[in-house]
Amino acid sequence: MAQYTEHEHDVLIIGAGGAGLRAAIEASAAGVKVGLVCKSLLGKAHTVMAEGGIAAALANTDERDSWKVHFADTMRGGQYVNNWRMAELHAKEAPDRVRELEAWGAVFDRTRDGKILQRNFGGHKYPRLAHVGDRTGLEMLRTLQDHGIHQGVDVHMEITIVSLIREGDRVAAAFGYERERGLFHLFRAKAIILCTGGIGRAYSITSNSWECTGDGHTLAYDVGAELIDMEFVQFHPTGMVWPPSVRGILVTEGVRGEGGILTNQEGRRFMFDDIPENYRPQTADNEEEGWRYTQGDRAARRPPELLTRDHVARCIVREIKAGRGSPHGGVFLDISWIKKKISHSEAHIKKKLPSMYHQFIKLAGVDITREAMEVGPTTHYIMGGIHVDADSQMATKVQGLFAAGECAAGINGANRLGGNSLSDLLVFGKRAGEYAAKFAKDHGATKVDDKQVDVAAKRTLEPFERQGSADGPYQIQHTLQEMMQHHVGIVRTDEEMAQAVEHLKHLRKQEAVVAVKGNREYNPGWHTALDLHNLLTVSEAITMAARVRKESRGGHFRADFPQKSDEFSKVNNVIRRDKNGAMQISTLPIPAMPAELEQAIKSEMS
Ligand code: FUM
Repeated sequence: MAQYTEHEHDVLIIGAGGAGLRAAIEASAAGVKVGLVCKSLLGKAHTVMAEGGIAAALANTDERDSWKVHFADTMRGGQYVNNWRMAELHAKEAPDRVRELEAWGAVFDRTRDGKILQRNFGGHKYPRLAHVGDRTGLEMLRTLQDHGIHQGVDVHMEITIVSLIREGDRVAAAFGYERERGLFHLFRAKAIILCTGGIGRAYSITSNSWECTGDGHTLAYDVGAELIDMEFVQFHPTGMVWPPSVRGILVTEGVRGEGGILTNQEGRRFMFDDIPENYRPQTADNEEEGWRYTQGDRAARRPPELLTRDHVARCIVREIKAGRGSPHGGVFLDISWIKKKISHSEAHIKKKLPSMYHQFIKLAGVDITREAMEVGPTTHYIMGGIHVDADSQMATKVQGLFAAGECAAGINGANRLGGNSLSDLLVFGKRAGEYAAKFAKDHGATKVDDKQVDVAAKRTLEPFERQGSADGPYQIQHTLQEMMQHHVGIVRTDEEMAQAVEHLKHLRKQEAVVAVKGNREYNPGWHTALDLHNLLTVSEAITMAARVRKESRGGHFRADFPQKSDEFSKVNNVIRRDKNGAMQISTLPIPAMPAELEQAIKSEMS
């Protein structure tokens, strides 16, 4: 029998980033007993890496903005395979969630007349990102934490959940271990909300922090939930490329939102070379146009650096492959050129982009007020994830299991617009908290099957019983990351992905016998060994879905099928585990959109 400490909550939330904290606040306000488990320390979640802002149609900087324009932009960015109901709820509710955050103490940058200031970001028609310099995620997390801490939430820090326990078709508990001492914990709950973020650590170049190992995706999949849209991985166009130790760290889109331009080795703004049909109007190839827009020009001119991320990332790859890249394998991103336009440019850059200034000066010895940065694409976000009901965020196949934030899917379709993740966390974190609390009130306590707990405990300890090298977990992780980067990255082909499938089978076999040395206390090798199951599961799902989608759309680009296909414009890919534990894929037709939403899209296109 496994030894563990037991906890009992009405609602258990796994993950304490923006979505988790917002869900905790809402569930707690509904009067139920809430527990919040996080892998890291409270306040250190990956949400802080969403730097440039929260997208919400507040219409403070341009009064023409509205929820309908935001909805249409989100659908166009996601190339119309989004869950339109989620995109609608998100666009309608984001302004209230931002104002609420302000009421709870978030200190946003301001317009001259004291409103929340909004900046440009890729794919958003109007300046829409409420921001706090380039530290928006950090301020959001601080505010939610300050507010949430007074709501009576029980916080369990530095605990990794490795298994969900089922009772029939309902989730009953979560089983995990303390990262410091290795002791086991069982959390019984009437409802569980997964808010575990992304999967970036399945790739070698990523902006994601160490926690982003696809935990929620895998916990849900293992317990019978469906995953959708897993082929859609977002490669943010601008991560650091130099020095090697910091490769992949995010360079916020806020740099381009503030007027930053992308150039190649020849000094040319290569983004003008390829402007998609559905983004208008085109601007002349000169710096002036881009800059005028960022100064609040109402003419809706968009510098091409602010096209959607999938497109910008591919243009950068094109320049690098053509030998027109920067010395360290990226391209140049220059904000310093604005000194030609304003006398106080140095102070302006330091005020609007303080983290970028420090990041580059400290890590790369580059003063961004004077010189260009070197940047290149970095794995940033997964649009795919747990299939949920749009209104309640409950997982489609498991009663009482909810998901919000990056680990839930639907709102973003094939590509997410920058800034939509922070508003997504607030809108759907709140909804998940509300509906999970309701579910907990409407349902009795769960019964926990001891056998399932014993199986989970045994599986967690197995690596100690095996013989093998202490490097094993790290080697498998490293091989996986390199393999995914090269075979299932920005540009994909069936040939390479077929090889990926073989690599994944081999890595699975290695993971099944991976050994760790030492004991359960402070043992990073053990933690890495346990993360492998999640990393492999999401990698298999991404590869399987990417092979099936024989077209290019959003974050998913197939060199062997470079066009969009009508057939695939109508479906989402759904992945589930069959009775024998094998991964299965099928397609789900996208339901027809209500006339009002169709009209919102049409009027934005006309
Ligand atoms: O570039 C950024 O600041 C990232 C924001 C986001 O992913 O939403």
